[in-house]
Amino acid sequence: MGALEIHHLGVAVEDLDRAIETYARLFGAAVEHRAVVPDQGVEAASLRVGESRVELLRALAEDTPVGRFVARRGAGMHHVAFAVADLPAELDRLQADGVELIDSEPRRGLFGLQVAFVHPQATGGVLAELVLDERD
Ligand code: CO
Repeated sequence: MGALEIHHLGVAVEDLDRAIETYARLFGAAVEHRAVVPDQGVEAASLRVGESRVELLRALAEDTPVGRFVARRGAGMHHVAFAVADLPAELDRLQADGVELIDSEPRRGLFGLQVAFVHPQATGGVLAELVLDERD
């Protein structure tokens, strides 16, 4: 029980092309996925940095979760995603512990991942995402 590792860091950006270029130039990050996801209100890119990932998020409109985040707090760190082996079991465990969840059940996240978000009030201010680990 618990997380296996950090799956990715989510970063809200204002200009996705520019952010991708910056992460490539400064850190050698390479794009593995990029998609416009209208139902989540974002254009997103998953960048690999060695074994790790950074997920860059650009809001498609102000009236979206990431758009409201950027309006309130500016571009920057948005969430930390933890890989877990059994997502429903982790959610049940957290719920039984009284942890405030945004998603009480797994849902489809970016790039086909199964995810659920934990409310930032439960984590000291940083939105947390649980991602089902799909490695064999
Ligand atoms: Co994420």
